Amino acid sequence: MSMPADFRAWMQDVQARTEDALGRFLPPAGAAPAKLHEAMRYTTLGGGKRVRPLLAHAAGELFGADPAAVAHAACAVEMIHVYSLVHDDMPCMDDDALRRGKPTVHVAYDEATALLAGDALQAQAFEVLANAPGVAPARQVAMLRLLAEAAGTKGMCGGQAIDLDSVGLSLTLEQLERMHQLKTGAMLRVSVLLGALAGRDLAPHELEALAAYSRAIGLAFQVVDDVLDATEDSATLGKTAGKDAAANKPTYVSILGLEPSKALAEQLRRQAHEALAPFGEQALRLRELADLIVQRKA
Ligand code: IPE
Ligand code: IPE
Ligand code: MG
Ligand code: MG
Ligand code: MG
Repeated sequence: MSMPADFRAWMQDVQARTEDALGRFLPPAGAAPAKLHEAMRYTTLGGGKRVRPLLAHAAGELFGADPAAVAHAACAVEMIHVYSLVHDDMPCMDDDALRRGKPTVHVAYDEATALLAGDALQAQAFEVLANAPGVAPARQVAMLRLLAEAAGTKGMCGGQAIDLDSVGLSLTLEQLERMHQLKTGAMLRVSVLLGALAGRDLAPHELEALAAYSRAIGLAFQVVDDVLDATEDSATLGKTAGKDAAANKPTYVSILGLEPSKALAEQLRRQAHEALAPFGEQALRLRELADLIVQRKA
């Protein structure tokens, strides 16, 4: 994939600012209880593609947000995401030993610490979002509500529950899409929305366009995750490859096949671009992020 140089530079800048802000928002490593705080920092810092913060910043730029306010939204969604990964990897869920190229939290520390680090990251996410500077209180409450919905039973947790209940089943395409939209799409959607809302209130047509974009990239993201699980190796992914087939999980690859899954991802990429049409040239970064999500190799 050829990535425009200015997009790469923008991405690296946002990733570096996100790393810095996360470091400041997390509890200091030395402070008691040190093991919990170290585990939170271990799993959050120094890894990950930061796709959700990138989406938040791209949407924030489109809606004229103060970068300082977007940083809070971006770190909040990343903290929920990291917590979801810590728990997803635990023995009671996917039982994975490798994440972001490092041993998972329950392996590097212990299960209780992984459980608590996830819990604490979730709480910290809401604290960080509540502390976003300069956002009108009514909009801030709306943002907190959106994050809660995306993280909870109507979003990520609901999708994870369906995922675990679906082991060994052959879902219909509708059921599979629903699972993916919940477990992965909801957090990507809220990343876009919180970035935009850090800027200003959204008109209904703007909300609709962002929702259509988010639906497309949200589904595409997990379709590509399923494809990569089946096609890449663990070193490239930084997490154990081939897990879905080994665990007998229904995925786009197992239900549609590999090539149709790739074609679907490409179709969703085009849909994402079309959804952004009302914003014109201004939506360049969101378009480039749709490309990144579909064309990534890890
Ligand atoms: C992996 O997410 C889990 C899914 C929701 C598919 P990412 O691929 O964004 O993982 P990181 O943040 O880059 O490690
Ligand atoms: C997890 O989906 C989505 C989450 C909400 C964490 P997967 O189980 O496919 O994620 P990976 O492949 O372990 O990153
Ligand atoms: Mg899982
Ligand atoms: Mg997993
Ligand atoms: Mg996966």
